[in-house]
Amino acid sequence: MRLCFLVEEHYRHDGMPNEVIGQLTAWGHRVDVLRPGGSLLRMTEVVAEGAHDAWVLKTVSGGPGLTLLEAAAATGLTTVNDARSIRGVRDKALAAAIGRGRGLPLPPTYAVARPELLREIPAAEYPLVVKPADGSSGRAVHLVSSPGRLETLLPVLAGEGMLIAQPYVPNSGTDIKVYAVGGELFATERCSPLHPDPSVRERRVPLSSEVAAIAAQVGAVYGLDLYGVDVLLGPDGPVVVDVNDFPSFRQVPDAAARVARAVLGLARAGGGPATAAPVPAVAPVAQAPAAATTMAAAPVSLPLSIPAQSSPAQISAAAGDTV
Ligand SMILES: Nc1ncnc2c1ncn2[C@@H]1O[C@H](COP(=O)(O)OP(=O)(O)O)[C@@H](O)[C@H]1O
Ligand SMILES: [Mg+2]
Repeated sequence: MRLCFLVEEHYRHDGMPNEVIGQLTAWGHRVDVLRPGGSLLRMTEVVAEGAHDAWVLKTVSGGPGLTLLEAAAATGLTTVNDARSIRGVRDKALAAAIGRGRGLPLPPTYAVARPELLREIPAAEYPLVVKPADGSSGRAVHLVSSPGRLETLLPVLAGEGMLIAQPYVPNSGTDIKVYAVGGELFATERCSPLHPDPSVRERRVPLSSEVAAIAAQVGAVYGLDLYGVDVLLGPDGPVVVDVNDFPSFRQVPDAAARVARAVLGLARAGGGPATAAPVPAVAPVAQAPAAATTMAAAPVSLPLSIPAQSSPAQISAAAGDTV
């Protein structure tokens, strides 16, 4: 197959997606890498070529990658994930409206175009979590204890664009990050950026049936195939605080091969929303050590095929993504 990966500068040296690209290339597929943030984009020509079986997006929110992917989708090309579904989660205000409307356990969510409008949120909603609507990797996420604290934070929030605010969900300080790939779900535990604690090690954890059902529902609600969900265990049960298309899949055993297989499957099937897909199976945690060893023992280091129109792509396997 011939695939076009849109990879943002932010992920240039990241294990994900570069190991996936390496794996696909090793299997004999051609992968062209386009770096939307670092290239002159000939928008009226770039998708007209129609030379690819599917386009795959791994970019930060707010960059030009999604615009390109939408352009590809508009001309009928297959995209991974579905371009409209990505839009639905990259804007956290939109994601909250869609998710709550479809019955997902998300916190009530306010959105403002200017930080000072946050003053209108009733005091009873505090403490609040305020974050950029297009945020990622924990950037500019603030725990605001009171309306008084909001005043001191307003200058910091200026320039962040649209913001959302939610009541703080009381939690233990660790997120459950659920990753969905190829019809399977994997869970890891990671320290919340609002509760930094160096002693909390990121690790795979068993997935309860309750959280698994919610994570599967997230895929169906947003129409995503490859995705991650940040879940907090609050006093009233699990709460979804974030949904990411094409996340890091950190701690997922044999992640590169799993994601590569999933991308090929979706490309062959013509992409499309995951709503008709079977409920993902929960992968048993006991598999983790063996599979992780397999991946470490077989690093992917084959040369990649780079198209003429792309910026030179320096592919390396260094980690660093935090999504
Ligand atoms: N409403 C909330 N209540 C408690 N903690 C939250 C809430 N929203 C976010 N957090 C914490 O902040 C982290 C970052 O927020 P998130 O929405 O995931 O943004 P990002 O896109 O930057 O990952 C979450 O992983 C979670 O630990
Ligand atoms: Mg998150």
